[in-house]
Amino acid sequence: MIKDIKAVLFDESMIKNRVQEISNELSHRFADKNPVLICILRGAVTFLSDLMRNMPIPLEIDFMSISSYGDSTVSSGIVQIRKDINISIKGRHVIIVEDIVDSGLSLNYLKEYLSNHESASITTCVFLDKPKAHKVDVKIDFIGFEIEIEFVVGYGLDFSEKYRNLPYIGILKEEVYKEL
Ligand code: IMP
Ligand code: MG
Repeated sequence: MIKDIKAVLFDESMIKNRVQEISNELSHRFADKNPVLICILRGAVTFLSDLMRNMPIPLEIDFMSISSYGDSTVSSGIVQIRKDINISIKGRHVIIVEDIVDSGLSLNYLKEYLSNHESASITTCVFLDKPKAHKVDVKIDFIGFEIEIEFVVGYGLDFSEKYRNLPYIGILKEEVYKEL
C-alpha cells in the first residue's frame, strides 16, 4: 500500500491538531444548538469520528451516501442519492461533514438537497479542499486543509475503495490510477 504513495501531505499529528481546532470552533458556535452532523459516506467517516470525539456538546449524527466518482478519478458531474438521512432535520442546525471538495458539484448538490428540508441552518465542514479544481461556486464554512490538484488518499479517502485505512493523507502515484 505504502509503495503506491508518492508523498505524505498531512501526517497524523498535523491532522490531529487541525481537527481539534475545527472541533473547538464548531463546539463554540453550536454549543447550545444540538446540531446534526451529517457524514457523507464513506470518505468522511474518519473525519466525523475524530471531529465529534473532540466536541463536548450535545449533538446527533446521521449519514448520507451519494455517488459521484465511481471508480474513476474524474468527476462524472452526475450526483445520485444512494442513502438518505434517517432523522428529521426540520428546525435543526445541520453540519454537512464531507471528506473533500474537488469540482464542488457534490457539496452544492447536498446543500441544495438538504435545504429543502426546512432545517434551521446548514453549515459545511470539509476536511480537504482543492480550490483550483472548483467548477462551480461553492461556499465552504470550515476547511481542514487546502491542497493542489492532486489525487490524495487515506484518512477515509479512497481510490477504488482502497487506502481508506491509511492514517495520513498521501498523494497517490499517478501510475496507480493511470494503469487502469
Ligand atoms: P466533487 O463533486 O467533484 O467536488 O467531488 C467530491 C467527491 O469526489 C469527494 O467526496 C470524494 O469522494 C471524491 N474525490 C475528489 N477528489 C478526490 C481525491 O483526491 N481523493 C479521493 N477522493 C476524491
Ligand atoms: Mg465523497
